[in-house]
Amino acid sequence: MTKRDFTLANGMTFPALGEGTWYLGEKRSAYAAEKESLIQGARHGLTLIDTAEMYGSGKAEILVGDVLKAFSREELTIVSKVYPHNAGIPKIYKSCEASLKRLGTDYLDVYLLHWRGSIPLSETVEGMEKLVKEGKIKCWGVSNFDISDMEELWEVPGGNRCQVNQVLYHAGSRGIEYDLLPWMRARHVALMAYCPLAQGGTLRRGLFQNTVLREMAQHKNCTVSQILLAFAIRDGHTVAIPRTSSAAHAIENAKAAEIFLTEEEIAAIDRVFPAPKHKTGLDIM
Ligand SMILES: NC(=O)c1ccc[n+]([C@@H]2O[C@H](COP(=O)([O-])OP(=O)(O)OC[C@H]3O[C@@H](n4cnc5c(N)ncnc54)[C@H](OP(=O)(O)O)[C@@H]3O)[C@@H](O)[C@H]2O)c1
Repeated sequence: MTKRDFTLANGMTFPALGEGTWYLGEKRSAYAAEKESLIQGARHGLTLIDTAEMYGSGKAEILVGDVLKAFSREELTIVSKVYPHNAGIPKIYKSCEASLKRLGTDYLDVYLLHWRGSIPLSETVEGMEKLVKEGKIKCWGVSNFDISDMEELWEVPGGNRCQVNQVLYHAGSRGIEYDLLPWMRARHVALMAYCPLAQGGTLRRGLFQNTVLREMAQHKNCTVSQILLAFAIRDGHTVAIPRTSSAAHAIENAKAAEIFLTEEEIAAIDRVFPAPKHKTGLDIM
């Protein structure tokens, strides 16, 4: 365990920072650099890799499978996601098997329902639990679930074995702090923060140019990206999964685990990017 690791309700350990893979593995010309970026990131501590059957229609999983060859299996925590339309019985078993094949492994650490679809949650939970029993996945979770979805999930038998909710979260999008995050904390459901860099700032204009963040970065001798990542993981029960195709950025992102924000620094971020004081719709990509 490193200083920033944390444990899930089921006792599994997560690092505070991992790596995303959306859009990776799709272009032949970028493949080698993307693979190197994921490998370097993992070597520097980004040992959780997030992927999905959706990403590049399986191409991202193939890339992650290639990355896995550079490690022993237990060194990495592999997260993949099932499409909502594949999250019923028996399709979920086929989807999981296909993901495992593309990844070249015999188990996933975490399997997530990518977003809520029309399949009853009870069916998805049954499928997930069977996959756990068969050793195909270590645990399961959901993604893009707002508080009402989580409450419904908790009504389903076995629904409270959900370990993780992966939702969009960065300094410029803090709606979940109002109700979803406290709800998850109370039930020990970990936050997996996606788009922690607001897609390189494109989801929130001016984020990377913000004077407070820039001055803070200068003062702490780090980058704005590192400040954003340190902010996302500040509560000690969150894993943020930035994506990069650059090994230098991956190493930079990994080093954000060494950055701790003071109460004054967090208050300064609160002033420029306040968390809403009322219910807002879940931000979704
Ligand atoms: N569950 C869901 O519905 C859902 C939705 C969206 C995303 N996700 C997951 O979350 C992951 C992360 O989200 P995301 O990929 O959308 O966006 P993101 O991680 O917020 O941002 C990615 C962008 O940030 C840039 N970047 C990364 N590190 C940087 C650094 N140190 N300095 C400057 N720029 C940097 C990357 O460019 P470079 O390549 O040039 O570094 C890339 O353009 C995804 O890859 C995916 O695994 C899940």
